[in-house]
Amino acid sequence: MTKKRILTGDRPTGPLHLGHYVGSLQNRVVLQNEGNELFIIIADFQTLTDRTETEHAEEYVYELLLDYLSCGIHPEKATIFLQSRVPALAELSMYLSMLVTVARAQQNPTIKEETKATGKGAMSLGMLSMPISQAADILAFNADLVPVGEDQLPHLEQTRDVARAFNRTFGVVFKEPQPLLSKAPRLMGLDAKQKMSKSRGNAIFLSDSADAVAQKIKSATTDSGKEIIYDPVHKPALANLLIMYHLFSGKSIPDIERMYTGKGYADFKADLADVVNAFLEPIRRARGEFARDKAYCALVAREGTQRACEETEGTMRKVRSAMRYDYPTIFR
Ligand code: TRP
Repeated sequence: MTKKRILTGDRPTGPLHLGHYVGSLQNRVVLQNEGNELFIIIADFQTLTDRTETEHAEEYVYELLLDYLSCGIHPEKATIFLQSRVPALAELSMYLSMLVTVARAQQNPTIKEETKATGKGAMSLGMLSMPISQAADILAFNADLVPVGEDQLPHLEQTRDVARAFNRTFGVVFKEPQPLLSKAPRLMGLDAKQKMSKSRGNAIFLSDSADAVAQKIKSATTDSGKEIIYDPVHKPALANLLIMYHLFSGKSIPDIERMYTGKGYADFKADLADVVNAFLEPIRRARGEFARDKAYCALVAREGTQRACEETEGTMRKVRSAMRYDYPTIFR
């Protein structure tokens, strides 16, 4: 693959979990190490779309930084930055929002689902326009590729729509970014009901202690029966744990089944806890080291944000000029 510019990121809403690792973090490290130009956005504007509690804002930004760094994102190869501290993103979002009808914005299924998930009912105007803000994030960096899960595809479609609308209206400035769909299987939560997520309380965090991991796996939902076999239809909970065992040990599922013929859930779960802990151990150790050096983490965030500002300001010069909003005789 030729080297690409890639934009990806997360909302700072708390620590990341194994689902994030499998679904995106792992892939980001690969993309970074292949020499692509990787920008990682800490999307703190987006956090506000469905909540206004901000007492943990800074702590959550640190958590995310620690998760990135301890999983192998390297600040010399990738640029980690804070959305709210890159003024171009707000400016571009403002311009782009003029090119989108309310009816079009309301078609996005993901914002409806996210609003429903909060249980609060009413959608904020910020949530309605969030995909356009995300389009601004992507277009301000002129990203080629955006690694996403299925739920983000509608946002990417809106990004491409609005890029086209801008180019048609003001002249060609933007290219249309492509989604890069993750091939990784989606991890269900330990309750085996829904995907792993912090808000559902069914997640193993990258920052969990070895004891916490063992405890969580021990009390994970299982199915009736006692055989260790991969049967997603009749034994969905066990199937999820088997996938987890497979992903973090590298062993094939048939091999794992063979290892546990004649054994029960308790043995299997105890070993799964060891497998997950062996995987998490180096991440945990790295995390501990970075956590002791808050000044370094702060520097990573500040330098990354500075680089993001320079990069996006370059795009904005083209945008303003195309729009005749550079006012050349006033702002020379
Ligand atoms: N919406 C993404 C999420 O919820 C976060 C995000 C914000 C993002 N801006 C982005 C992802 C730009 C990719 C590109 O995880």
